[in-house]
Amino acid sequence: MLRDSSHKLHILDHPLAAHKMSILRDAQTPSHRFRRTLNELSWLLAFPAFEMLRLAPVEITTPLETMTAQTLSDPAPCIVSILRAGNGLADGFSQICPEASLGHLGLYRDHDTLQPVSYYSSLPDRMDKRQVILVDPMLATGGSATMAIETLRNMGVDDIVFACLVAAPEGISALHGAHPEVPIFTAALDRELNDQAYILPGLGDAGDRIYGTG
Ligand code: PRP
Ligand code: URA
Repeated sequence: MLRDSSHKLHILDHPLAAHKMSILRDAQTPSHRFRRTLNELSWLLAFPAFEMLRLAPVEITTPLETMTAQTLSDPAPCIVSILRAGNGLADGFSQICPEASLGHLGLYRDHDTLQPVSYYSSLPDRMDKRQVILVDPMLATGGSATMAIETLRNMGVDDIVFACLVAAPEGISALHGAHPEVPIFTAALDRELNDQAYILPGLGDAGDRIYGTG
């Protein structure tokens, strides 16, 4: 993992991650392979992103003796997916941490204004007590992630990390400007946005690549 000096930006630095990113970036990769590779990569990203999870002591008995072990604190963390592309990451995150609750925030980026539009929200109870791992493959302008974090903050959530596949410098600046306390975990830091706010070199429209639409 590469980290910036503030430890608020973490970039995955692993040969398998680089290999899988090249599959995802390749325009020739079909949707079924894109989905499978995204799921594999999400496991690699989940490991460092879950480092923040809180633990609580628990008394257990092994076959030989009793001991104090560590378990996830209650209530369980919540993986929040920004629909729809976020589900591609959330699946892998919840496979590796099945105890986590799952929440969904439906946001799409208006093609003309490039501003996020909210259309759906479904979150578990006791959000103010949960740690949240917010996932979305793409951090472009940062508008969608910023709006999602504001929604969570309004529910009293104070412990949030954001995980994505590809981040643009513009999105990182916007998100860190609005929410400097939220660490960003990304598999790749790309060069810039184009004039339609797509990430370059990027991987195209993540939702369309996952679901074969567009
Ligand atoms: C994509 C992506 C992010 C957003 C990033 O979603 O999954 O949510 O764009 O852009 P931003 O940082 O400029 O806000 P999109 O709006 O294409 O919706 P989809 O997931 O339903 O395809
Ligand atoms: N959303 C995407 O899916 N891809 C981009 O490059 C930017 C926003």
